[in-house]
Amino acid sequence: MKITRAELTHFRSYETCVLEPCEGVNVLLGDNGQGKTNVLEALYLCCTGRSHRTRQDRELIRWGADFAAVRVDALRRDGSHQVEIALPALGRRRIRVAGQEIARSGELMGHVTGVLFSPEDLRTVKDGPAERRRFVDMALSQIRPAYYYALQRYARALKQRNEALKAIAARPSLAATLDAWDEQLADAGIELSSHRRTYIEKLSAVAAGIHRDIADGRERLEIRYLPSVSAGDDARAYLEALFSARETDARRMTTTVGAHRDDVQILVEGRDVRAFGSQGQQRTAALAMRLSELEVMRDRLGEWPMLMLDDVMSELDPGRRRQLVGRLKGVQTFITCTDAADLAGAEAGKMWRVEQGALKED
Ligand SMILES: Nc1ncnc2c1ncn2[C@@H]1O[C@H](COP(=O)(O)OP(=O)(O)O)[C@@H](O)[C@H]1O
Ligand SMILES: [Mg+2]
Repeated sequence: MKITRAELTHFRSYETCVLEPCEGVNVLLGDNGQGKTNVLEALYLCCTGRSHRTRQDRELIRWGADFAAVRVDALRRDGSHQVEIALPALGRRRIRVAGQEIARSGELMGHVTGVLFSPEDLRTVKDGPAERRRFVDMALSQIRPAYYYALQRYARALKQRNEALKAIAARPSLAATLDAWDEQLADAGIELSSHRRTYIEKLSAVAAGIHRDIADGRERLEIRYLPSVSAGDDARAYLEALFSARETDARRMTTTVGAHRDDVQILVEGRDVRAFGSQGQQRTAALAMRLSELEVMRDRLGEWPMLMLDDVMSELDPGRRRQLVGRLKGVQTFITCTDAADLAGAEAGKMWRVEQGALKED
C-alpha cells in the first residue's frame, strides 16, 4: 500500500497542507515543535481512527478553527482507496471511505494501513499492560475488522457489567442482572483472546528473527501472551471464570478478570525486559516488535503497510540504524528527524522542510 496524496485542513498546527509522497522513503526535516509529528499523527488517524497521542478529537483541531479534516489517497494492489476524516469542534466525527460516509467506525479499517514507531514506543515495553494491549489491538483492528467489532462489544459489555456491580452494591437482590453481561463478555472475550493468541504467537516468531539481526544474534527475544482468563476457545470456561470472580468483583465494584486485564510479556534471554532490561535492551525490543508488526501485517494483507518512523533514527546506534534502513526496501516510509545526518544511508526519495506548520519540498 502506498499513499499517493495526503491533505490536512486545520489539523493541529496546519492551516492546510498537501503532501504527495513518493513510494520509497519520505523525509520530514525540521526543528522541534515545527509540525513533523503532526503529519504522521494525521496519517495514523486515517489508519486506525485514533491519534497515537490523544483520545480527544478537540486537541487535533487547529486552535481557533471549528473543524479539522484529513484526507488520504492510497494505491493498493486492488486499486485506489480513499479515507477522509472530518472532526468538527461540535458534534460527532464523520468518516468517508471512497467518498461514502460509513455507518460503523470499523469500516475505516484496512483501507490505509500503517505502523508507527516513535520514541513513546518504549512505553510498550516499560509501562503497564494497557500499553501492550493497545499495541496488539491497533494492529489486529487494522487487519481484522471483526476483531475491532469484538473490542467494541467487549467494551460495551464491560461498562454495563461494571455499572451493574455498582448497582448491586446498593441492592444485592440485583445480582442476577450480571448473567446477561457475563455471557456477552465471555462471548467477545473468547474472540479477542483467540485472535490475540494467534497474533502474538506469530509476532513472537517473527520478532525473534528480527531481534537476532538487530541485536547481532546475541540475545533471544520472546513475546508471550498472558491472558487474564485461560479458557482457550471454551466459552463455558470463560463464563465460569467471570462467575467465580463475582464476589470479589462485587466487593471492588469492578470486573477483575477478562480480556481488559490481559497482558503481553516481553522476554529477553528468558527474563522480563520490563523489569530487568537495560534502556538499550528495551529500545531494541521495542524496535523488533514494531518491525515484526509490519511483517505480520504484510503477511495478512498481502502487501506492505506504510511505515512511519518518528524521531527514532537519532535514538539508535549506527548498527541498529543500518539494520533498520536495510529493511525499508519496498516499504513506503515516512521519517521525521531534526538532522539529515541521522538518516544514515536511508535514501530519501522526497524531502520536506517543516517550519512553523508549513511544508516546503526540498
Ligand atoms: N490544536 C493545535 N492547534 C495549533 N497548533 C497546535 C495544535 N496542537 C499542537 N500544535 C502545535 O504543533 C506543534 C508541535 O508539532 P509537532 O508535530 O509535535 O512538532 P515536531 O516537529 O517536533 O514533531 C507545536 O508548536 C504546537 O504548538
Ligand atoms: Mg515530533
